[in-house]
Amino acid sequence: MPMAPQSDALVLFGATGDLAYKKLFPTLLRLVHRGVLDAPVIGVAKSGFTLEDLRKRCEASLDEYGKLDAPDARKKLLGLLEYVDGDYNDEATFTQIRALLKNAKHPLHYLAVPPVLFSVVTKHLGSSGCAESARVVVEKPFGRDLESADALNAALHAVLPEESIYRIDHYLGKEAIQDILYFRFANTFFEPLWNRNYIDNIQITMAEDFGVEDRGRFYDATGAIRDVIQNHLIKVIGYLAMEPTRWSDTISLHDESLKVLRAIRPLTPNDVCRGQYEGYTAIDGVENDSTTETYAGIRVWIDNWRWDGVPFYVRAGKNMPVHATEVRVEFRRPPRVVFDEPTKATENFVRFRIYPKVAIDLGARAKLPGEAMVGENIELTAVDTHQDEMTAYERLIGDALSGDSTLFATQAEVDAAWRVVDPILGNVVPAHPYAVDTWGPAGDDCIAPLGGWHEPTIDTPKAGRTNGL
Ligand code: BG6
Repeated sequence: MPMAPQSDALVLFGATGDLAYKKLFPTLLRLVHRGVLDAPVIGVAKSGFTLEDLRKRCEASLDEYGKLDAPDARKKLLGLLEYVDGDYNDEATFTQIRALLKNAKHPLHYLAVPPVLFSVVTKHLGSSGCAESARVVVEKPFGRDLESADALNAALHAVLPEESIYRIDHYLGKEAIQDILYFRFANTFFEPLWNRNYIDNIQITMAEDFGVEDRGRFYDATGAIRDVIQNHLIKVIGYLAMEPTRWSDTISLHDESLKVLRAIRPLTPNDVCRGQYEGYTAIDGVENDSTTETYAGIRVWIDNWRWDGVPFYVRAGKNMPVHATEVRVEFRRPPRVVFDEPTKATENFVRFRIYPKVAIDLGARAKLPGEAMVGENIELTAVDTHQDEMTAYERLIGDALSGDSTLFATQAEVDAAWRVVDPILGNVVPAHPYAVDTWGPAGDDCIAPLGGWHEPTIDTPKAGRTNGL
């Protein structure tokens, strides 16, 4: 395949917003530092800013979130900035952008704006000529449900071909998430076991020990299922469950991913538990009588040959006792005919730790020294100690600039994920209150694996043997 051309301008819609401040400017600094970005960066917003104001905001963002001591790159980034202040509904805004694009042949437009503005911005990109040979990065959420995602796609496709649309899901830019797929298929020892014959269940926990304080309005219209399950966590399921294919063949990769997403059985109210932390409705921007979930636990079934009958349990919540994300794949226990020990069902497992540490642990049994043939639980742990890894946004924006869409979602994948969660959006089951710093609502109707959820692992177990998992 011929190499895709490098983008020669970056247009940042929503340049004065939260995402740009917290994530995008620091990412641009890293990209400039690595030599990946060396093109004009045109900020666009309706904030009454001047270019000087935008530079100041960029500097403040780098001071607060930059984490990279690179004075030359910083100076260069500030020099690359341009700014257009204008309304997204006004064609004149886009005429100015077009003028600043000068001879750029493949601009990358980054839509860091609320989803309601995606269509209008794309429409004007088209009519002003800014969309010609351009790429567009669209931030999540891609719609609010299947129907609105399709409407959004239709608006984007009216102006851009599918291959120019980069639907960003920052989870896919994470090394730890990519390693799930890598570890599965780059080793011989898992694949023969990676199916319904040997796997008992899979648990995915995404716990955050903070609330939604400064994002009340956005979050209240969104909730945990739309915010992180429909996208980040269903993608994780995809990597855990998909069939092998060539990584370098982007089309086959997306085809395989789509195949498994389509095999996920649409959820029913019996497969979901919703919760809302106490005090949530007092947050600025949240409705007084809001029933939005800040916690969701779901049970997912995949209707295919490999996964029939294996439950995937997924939970995501705000204001949990810890901030940790991990995947735990539990194997069935071996027959007890050799050693007469009442071992539990799931002492063999592989755990992918995504946050705060990136690590892979294998849970196993080993013999305790002594005359008796009895054992203990041990863990073999590989901790990622690489320094200076790319951040998720750095990886993904770098890929978009070079026209590599491997780690971005296609329309079909997004649709397949909405089809899974569509039946459980809204008040299909009540959102039970839960106290801050707890693991969400308890009770019979709250989804949990047989034997309960495993708490995520925060510390690295001591090398060698660890008892009492
Ligand atoms: C975002 C959600 O997509 O992902 C947030 O909108 C969530 O609510 C965040 O906190 C989690 O991402 P990370 O990379 O911090 O685990």
